[in-house]
Amino acid sequence: MTTAFDPIDLAGARLPNRIVMAPMTRSRAYGPGLAPTDATAEYYAQRASAGLIVSEGIQPSPVGQGYPDTPGLHSQAQVAAWRTVTDAVHGAGGRIFAQLMHTGRIGHPSLLPDGLSPVGASAVAAKGQVYTADGPKDFVVPVELDEAGIEATVADHVAAARNAISAGFDGVEVHGANGYLVHQFLAPNSNVRTDAWGGDPRRRARFAVELVGAVADAIGPHRTGLRVSPGNPLGDLREPEPDATYFALLQGLERVGPAYLHVVEPADRALTAELRKRFSGVLILNARTEGRHTGPQELAVIEDGTADMLSFGALFLANPDLPRRLRRGGPYNTPDRSTYYGGDERGYTDYPALED
Ligand SMILES: Cc1cc2nc3c(=O)[nH]c(=O)nc-3n(C[C@H](O)[C@H](O)[C@H](O)COP(=O)(O)O)c2cc1C
Repeated sequence: MTTAFDPIDLAGARLPNRIVMAPMTRSRAYGPGLAPTDATAEYYAQRASAGLIVSEGIQPSPVGQGYPDTPGLHSQAQVAAWRTVTDAVHGAGGRIFAQLMHTGRIGHPSLLPDGLSPVGASAVAAKGQVYTADGPKDFVVPVELDEAGIEATVADHVAAARNAISAGFDGVEVHGANGYLVHQFLAPNSNVRTDAWGGDPRRRARFAVELVGAVADAIGPHRTGLRVSPGNPLGDLREPEPDATYFALLQGLERVGPAYLHVVEPADRALTAELRKRFSGVLILNARTEGRHTGPQELAVIEDGTADMLSFGALFLANPDLPRRLRRGGPYNTPDRSTYYGGDERGYTDYPALED
């Protein structure tokens, strides 16, 4: 029987275990021009015993930023700062992918430089509010990307993916989940286009397929992953019948052959099983849990073959040596929500590891 503590091959490397640190935004990019700091390097290096770390969401371009103090990968200063982070992770024996996160319509002009406005698949605003320096504000109607805009957005992701490799990342995860730009193209209530990128499932999946394909062409499919969350309502998305869309997406990706698919699990395990059947690469599961975070109970998804790797969010945030704790059966530090986003080293680099 395979367990989470068995090795697995990914991105041309042998990972020592199947435990993934899930991508988590921490809003602490206090370096020049939204670059990570030495504290970021320390935070990720502390967690290097993961089989794989997926970084916090990183905007591939200025307009892709949806939250305060999130880092980018579109300037040379950012590349240099990320190099410090990847060196620290590698020095501690780990591997790290960069999550490219373009938030699309989830954002606000006041968070963006140079008079930029959020963009989206269609000119449809998300219901809800965003936190800005002046308090909560309604989401705005995004600028619908035209064909040239789509091409430019794909090119921004390709440039950021190349930057990630220059900065020493082991690969790139395209964020196609949780209501952000790629997901906005997939979902029928945020994508009401009538051109080649909207309408039936294959057309709604086209942007994701083109984007992942272009990133894979640039840095290699073995270094390219995709995160999806079929049916996830975050960001005011509605996907009443996600199956056909995600099957079309996987069909489109067959030619590309990305290294992994990272599934934020929808309500039903049946869809996870179907995705597993239809994807030949590594399947990373962020298992669905009701009213609690992923915990040791979910290790069984490796043992029963549901997934190849299992990702942990909050528990990894609070437990820098999580694989060791899982192997020993705990104990676990409790995550402190009040320090998730922004702030100093508290709740960032000061969660203790187990004593020897
Ligand atoms: C503080 C925090 C920040 C997050 N930021 C991101 C992000 O940048 N990108 C992403 O894909 N998911 C993000 N997530 C979602 C996690 O990756 C994960 O899917 C979620 O926390 C559920 O897993 P868990 O129960 O193990 O925490 C975030 C979650 C938390 C707690």
